[in-house]
Amino acid sequence: MSARDYDLEPFWMPFTANRQFKAAPRILVSAKDMHYTAEDGRKILDSTAGLWCVNAGHCREPIVRAIKQQAESLDFAPTFQMGHPGPFRLAQTIAHLAPSDLNHVFFANSGSEAVDSALKIALAYHRVRGEGQRTRLIGRERAYHGVGFGGISVGGMTPNRKVFGAMLPGVDHLPHTHDLEKMAKSRGQPEWGAHLANDLERIVALHDASNIAAVIVEPVQGSTGVVVPPKGYLERLRAICDKHGLLLIFDEVITGFGRLGSAFAADYFGVIPDMITFAKGVTSATVPMGGVIVRKHVYDAFMGGPEGIELFHGYTYSGHPLAAAAGEATLALYHDEELFANAARLAPCFEDAAHSLADIPNVIDVRNIGLMAGIELAPRPGKPGARGYEALVGCFEAGLLTRITGDTLACSPPLIATKAHIDQIFTTIGKVLKAIA
Ligand SMILES: Cc1ncc(COP(=O)(O)O)c(C=O)c1O
Repeated sequence: MSARDYDLEPFWMPFTANRQFKAAPRILVSAKDMHYTAEDGRKILDSTAGLWCVNAGHCREPIVRAIKQQAESLDFAPTFQMGHPGPFRLAQTIAHLAPSDLNHVFFANSGSEAVDSALKIALAYHRVRGEGQRTRLIGRERAYHGVGFGGISVGGMTPNRKVFGAMLPGVDHLPHTHDLEKMAKSRGQPEWGAHLANDLERIVALHDASNIAAVIVEPVQGSTGVVVPPKGYLERLRAICDKHGLLLIFDEVITGFGRLGSAFAADYFGVIPDMITFAKGVTSATVPMGGVIVRKHVYDAFMGGPEGIELFHGYTYSGHPLAAAAGEATLALYHDEELFANAARLAPCFEDAAHSLADIPNVIDVRNIGLMAGIELAPRPGKPGARGYEALVGCFEAGLLTRITGDTLACSPPLIATKAHIDQIFTTIGKVLKAIA
């Protein structure tokens, strides 16, 4: 263990058991392509693209160069009543990449801000069209939409909500779609569960459509441990939203930029939402950035409103020059190296490798789509999360970075992965799971 020249105590770590971590820290000091280097010099294979975000691989030279050049030429410029080229160029590229007429982009700095921006746009959209009473927002159980008050209100992960008071009023939730009895160890989209989208009709009947602004879902739930939508589910949500004039928001903070082998999950499933929230992969996580892509009719509604500022919303760093430069370089790299296609090519072997763990003792579910997989472990009696945490630590000791939510391990490697990396990821997890059984 190298001697540290810093104290671990002052940093209040996010989403971390601080006391546990600081007693036995796992410190990463550098990274390149598919690997981190730990402070003891060990190479750690990154099976999670950092936090579902380093889609282009670590410290890629064209992105690093673009950020350096930008920092030297224009460090910051406002985007309130002023402009600079970066965000205009990046918005154009994103609009080209996004499906259908999702062709205007609002920039934020994170997924959480992207979600809150989308929810605010939904409310303001109905208001500018003269339906300002549409204020209710519909989320889903087990959803993760970041940590802003909007995001935790429509979100459905209990620990992220339970100590934070009443949150936004007027929010309702769809049921989640995961049922071990009906779909355990499904490959790709489960056959069972499309009917769960019909619950939206029940919610509409309860509140009346005239009071509902929008429905927000992750097309594939990520943070709760990879829950793949049943076949036909998203299509049905779209149809019900259309029937009642509700905006449909896909939170693609994880699924955006290639995770399923297409630019967006909307392309993959052939279901077009009214807004897409994104973050993470847009810059391959090199510089924080998030945003909302909106369909033409959403943007046009604002542009047909009163003269002057159409949306009183924005962040000092909306379209920050470094983030925009990183975004442009990242999207160029995805294109030049055909990384989305690489993800699509690898997906079948990723699926086979993930499901090779299905019969290991205590593995109660394996689920996957694109380059996302969740491996759910039976909880230790009376100690939920303990087995998952042991797996995380065991994998790290064996040279593999994974991610856990409770007792579910999640894998989402960078899109530059090869078959050999995939084999190594799942062989290592398999060995660790057997060892901690
Ligand atoms: C679907 C989804 N939305 C929002 C967020 C929040 O993003 P951030 O952590 O950048 O605020 C995440 C983060 O994982 C996410 O998975």
